[in-house]
Amino acid sequence: MDIHDSLHLPCGAVLKNRLAKAAMTERFTNGDLKPNKKHYNLYENWSKQGSGLLITGNVMLERSHLESAGNVVMKEAFLPELKKWAKAATSGGNHCWTQISHSGRQTSIFNNLRPSSASNVKLKKLGFFAKPRALEVNEIQELIDKYASAAELSKRAGFTGVQIHAAHGYLISQFLSPITNKRTDEWGGSLENRTRFLFEIVKVTRGKVGFQFPIGVKLNSSDFQKGGFSEEESLWVIQQLEKLGVDLLEISGGTYENAEFLLAENIRQSTKQREAYFLDFAEKVRKESAIPLMVTGGIRSLKFCNEALNENLLDVVGMARPYLLYDDFASRFLAGELTPDAFSVRTGIKAFEDMAEAGFYNLQLDRLGTGKKIDKSYTPVRSAFHLIKHEFVKALANKFAG
Ligand SMILES: Cc1cc2nc3c(=O)[nH]c(=O)nc-3n(C[C@H](O)[C@H](O)[C@H](O)COP(=O)(O)O)c2cc1C
Repeated sequence: MDIHDSLHLPCGAVLKNRLAKAAMTERFTNGDLKPNKKHYNLYENWSKQGSGLLITGNVMLERSHLESAGNVVMKEAFLPELKKWAKAATSGGNHCWTQISHSGRQTSIFNNLRPSSASNVKLKKLGFFAKPRALEVNEIQELIDKYASAAELSKRAGFTGVQIHAAHGYLISQFLSPITNKRTDEWGGSLENRTRFLFEIVKVTRGKVGFQFPIGVKLNSSDFQKGGFSEEESLWVIQQLEKLGVDLLEISGGTYENAEFLLAENIRQSTKQREAYFLDFAEKVRKESAIPLMVTGGIRSLKFCNEALNENLLDVVGMARPYLLYDDFASRFLAGELTPDAFSVRTGIKAFEDMAEAGFYNLQLDRLGTGKKIDKSYTPVRSAFHLIKHEFVKALANKFAG
């Protein structure tokens, strides 16, 4: 078994190899919130390089709940642009899935001063996030339908699957965690109640897209927060997702308050030495479930990928940042010509590290989207400030565009 081997998913779809580009928010829109040339360029380039699966950055259900002011929103009116994006992103014969998301409370004050969430628990981060209000029950039902409709729109546009984003502290994750879900109705309290939102979304989505269309889920192994969504809970959720016929489960971890998926600060050194941040958890998943498994976070060498595949620790290797450190990462990696350097973006100020990291890679995304070469010379401080300015300016553009 190696990275070049194909993978048959439960729905019958086949990934031509085991390398997946994990979701990275593109932040490319300018006031209109629809896909544009930068999306087409970037994804056509990535598609031609040979990865079996490309997962888009967050595409959002509502303009009032953006993860970034430069997100794409899933709207029927954008079908022509979504089609162009899907066509470019699958031009190399690979799969490309949209990552469907709702930010919940993780939308900045530049976008929304009164976001909604499972409950009214405020995100603590540099004053950039407002106190949310708890969703009404009828709004929860509407949102479940919106996830499913966004999946169906993705299918009509030509995307070959969807990934439901249930990780990293976004809305579904807010329902899953006892820290952010304080509800006392059937949508909160017990694990069964906290998971209802996710399971309903998967069921209704399956009803809308049919049995032959891949549905993936990105889930946290845990939130890495005391009293938050735990590993034991995550393992149970995964067993249920397998029963619901989910085609690919991607594991990650952390939230905006503790961005383990980017910074890996609380991951044990022994685990990091094995490259993948969430490999210990993957081993536990394998014991409990036969769900096809994608692991993302910290994976860098082809040798490691092939060993992990051979040892049956995972089915798909997810990689994100390496795609933004080289102009032609995937083709050289698959040919065995490249092992990405350990590249670190650090300001030395804890509260800014995730922004520096995200800002640096956002600058690279923008370069690739406009046909420029990767440039690693941006400093961490400049990268962090770039991101804050970028979000502020694009949020203004969204307001002016109405
Ligand atoms: C610039 C950037 C944007 C990201 N955007 C998303 C996103 O939209 N959705 C998501 O699930 N993860 C997102 N991530 C997290 C990645 O998918 C991945 O989980 C993380 O980078 C760890 O993988 P890596 O070590 O291979 O980079 C993003 C990461 C980066 C660097």
